[in-house]
Amino acid sequence: MEQKEDLLKEIISHAKEYGFIFPSSEIYDGLSATYDYGQLGVELKNNIKTFWWKAMVQMHENIVGIDAAIFMHPKTWKASGHVDAFNDPLIDNKDSKKRYRADVLIEDYIEKIRQKIEKEVEKAQKRFGDAFDEEQFRSTNPNVLRNIEKIQSIEERMKSTLENNDLEGVYNLIVDLEIVCPLSGTKNWTEVRQFNLMFSTELGSVSGEASTIYLRPETAQGIFVNFLNVQKSGRMKIPFGIAQIGKAFRNEIVARQFIFRMREFEQMEMQFFCRPGEEMKWYQYWKDSRIKWHKSLGLGEKNYRFHDHLKLAHYANAACDIEFDFPMGFKELEGIHSRTDFDLKQHENLSGKKLQYFDPEINESYVPYVVETSVGLDRMFLSVLSSSYTVEKLADGSERTVLKIPFILTPNKVAILPLTKKDGLPEKANEIWNRLKFDFTCQYDEKDSIGKRYRRQDATGTAYCITIDHQTLEDNTVTLRHRDTMIQSRISADELLVKLSETCNWSNFLKEFD
Ligand code: GAP
Repeated sequence: MEQKEDLLKEIISHAKEYGFIFPSSEIYDGLSATYDYGQLGVELKNNIKTFWWKAMVQMHENIVGIDAAIFMHPKTWKASGHVDAFNDPLIDNKDSKKRYRADVLIEDYIEKIRQKIEKEVEKAQKRFGDAFDEEQFRSTNPNVLRNIEKIQSIEERMKSTLENNDLEGVYNLIVDLEIVCPLSGTKNWTEVRQFNLMFSTELGSVSGEASTIYLRPETAQGIFVNFLNVQKSGRMKIPFGIAQIGKAFRNEIVARQFIFRMREFEQMEMQFFCRPGEEMKWYQYWKDSRIKWHKSLGLGEKNYRFHDHLKLAHYANAACDIEFDFPMGFKELEGIHSRTDFDLKQHENLSGKKLQYFDPEINESYVPYVVETSVGLDRMFLSVLSSSYTVEKLADGSERTVLKIPFILTPNKVAILPLTKKDGLPEKANEIWNRLKFDFTCQYDEKDSIGKRYRRQDATGTAYCITIDHQTLEDNTVTLRHRDTMIQSRISADELLVKLSETCNWSNFLKEFD
């Protein structure tokens, strides 16, 4: 665990050093849980957005996108349930004065039991070697079974207390499990209270005429209130989806773990409107489709797992998370929710406007059911960054730090490096830069030795380095160096565009993914 925490620290410092992520308003000592994306961070972020948008909107004929306003009529949040029910159960430790989400304390406790199980399995694997039957071990070992039972019983208690808003029950669970404050190490807890997560502000400049409005806590509601506008203007037939990428804001009490939990973050959400009764089919479809999207990036199949929700949100009849193995362990990356007709019906009730669809195939009007996929862009960023960060020992005993970001996402596809600053090499390098700039983000670098320049490019994840030397002037060939294998090959400068397209071009990548 400690090793993993160190890894997160290393990644945070690497991200700052190389221009991926800076603490927000750092010159004023920063603002907690708020970050700025730097020159390379914004490129990676844009590429993640592009992949999502292309896979969800461009590659589905029945999905379109919108970009709704962040501010919405305050009744929106009454209708969605956020005013009354978007709360976190909070508990304070009286000694450290630190505030925690009660459910997170319990989940962390459960995670520790899970880790015990995994250690037990690992130990047995080492003991039995090739003869080890993991499935049999997990289903028969008394320690593993006892711990699984323990997890189940805690989860059941947590589910029932949270669902019934039984805050005393949540408190009792924390006391019974003897959970201690990670800071003070004591069990000196306050009672559990509910805390609304929405940021509010005042609309209007004249005192007295102002009314409270909220910064949206999810992008989804901008889609719901536009459901009929899009359906009618786009002549959409059910089933169809509306997608959106945008900022969301939550007054997270336990904002921590770098960009994993922020107060201002970005979501990539898609609401899929379907016939009532067909939502489970689409729920399964989107579960399969989204996990395929994630795995296609090649960050490691083992890094993903599904987690079915025990505590369903107020709007859902089925829900799961796609979890990723972050440096802090497996945590939610994306949510997939079957939201029934809850939101549209609520908006009908509060607005007094009908939000129904006439289905010509069955000659009936109805409020559609909705399956949503919602992935945090910043969490996607962290999943890519953390799984790409590698420190390698090289054959000559030296070390290199390399960000093995998938080529399609990496900020710079190519670095163009003239061997020296003279003899016409920079001019030739510029010529190549000018040819490639229309298709790929390229970086030009002529400072320091070529070895140092390679290291700098490795540290920022640049897919290829192109070195221009004196031979280039004679026969128009360059050295092309692959980031991961470090293999260098001599190819004609005229072949660069085709060669780079093989791995860095969207259409090639998407054809593989499809
Ligand atoms: N519209 C449904 C919805 O908002 P959610 O599970 O609350 O569902 C969806 O959020 C995704 O948004 C999460 O899976 C996570 O990736 C991201 N997310 C939520 N809160 C976040 C935060 N405070 N910081 C960064 N990302 C967050």
